[in-house]
Amino acid sequence: MKRIGVLTSGGDAPGMNAAVRAVVRKAIYHGLEVYGVYQGYHGLMTGNIQKLELGSVGDIIHRGGTVLRSARCPEFVTKEGQKQGIEQLKAHGIEGLVVIGGDGSYRGAKALTELGYPCVGVPGTIDNDIPGTEFTIGFDTALNTVIDAVDKIRDTASSHERTFVVEVMGRDAGDLALWAGLSGGAETILIPEDPYDMESVKERLMKGHERGKKHSIIIVAEGVMSGTEFAKKIEENTDFDTRVSVLGHMQRGGSPTAADRVLASRLGARAVELLIEGKGGRAVGIEHNKLVDYDIIEALAMPHKLDLDMYRLSKELSI
Ligand code: F6P
Repeated sequence: MKRIGVLTSGGDAPGMNAAVRAVVRKAIYHGLEVYGVYQGYHGLMTGNIQKLELGSVGDIIHRGGTVLRSARCPEFVTKEGQKQGIEQLKAHGIEGLVVIGGDGSYRGAKALTELGYPCVGVPGTIDNDIPGTEFTIGFDTALNTVIDAVDKIRDTASSHERTFVVEVMGRDAGDLALWAGLSGGAETILIPEDPYDMESVKERLMKGHERGKKHSIIIVAEGVMSGTEFAKKIEENTDFDTRVSVLGHMQRGGSPTAADRVLASRLGARAVELLIEGKGGRAVGIEHNKLVDYDIIEALAMPHKLDLDMYRLSKELSI
């Protein structure tokens, strides 16, 4: 393998730049040429591809977002779109591709693999919902952003003796809500993986109130329902003065934490090693702090597992 490509796709995540840097530097270190595909699969189909040098990825390790930019590209789910992408790669002499992204990006990489083109998936999403890895790039940064917001909300919630519903991202996965809830000391955490019961939410709020608590924080993953909808339910069922805070896309921005930079550097470099070893169709990940890789098709078939012990613990500690 003499020339590889790298793209970022789907929702951006802090640390994607550190992963791009690792791919480029590791490849050049081993004598390969690297091409950046801009705007994800959209840029792949339209040939928005440029050569990257060592200096192209200088001064980006600490930046949020992605210098390669990202896009959601519905056209890429079609066979024609995928074949067009492969033609572009071949026209540029690119023999293997590193795809950094979440679930949809992995499905694109899987489709290319099934068409015989070597791809390696690197998990980058704040949702932490990619199978075959315990952590995804961007999750730790997003979690710290949420915690920073929750700590601030707690101050004002306490002053005014209010209940706050904080809506966090996570359409299908509750990881961000769960980790933020546990580390932010939330009274209640609502996640898509576990149907909530209004009576027990109410009971927890009442219990806290009876023992003199001055405020309550409820974290709702957007996949359950909107924060506004849930606050309405609280007000219908209780007398608590309730406010809502929707954190939104700020969760996707910001300078990556050290943990995300290290994770991104390790995973990006490992993806290049796999391509050099001639192993396409893999998905890299981290398990027990060791790098792992799986067949990308098998990885996508594995269910994402939320840490249920942690979920139970959050309930025990917030009585
Ligand atoms: O990056 C993943 C994610 O943040 C989801 O949690 C969220 O639902 C979605 O992306 C929103 O992304 P966009 O607004 O870019 O479509």
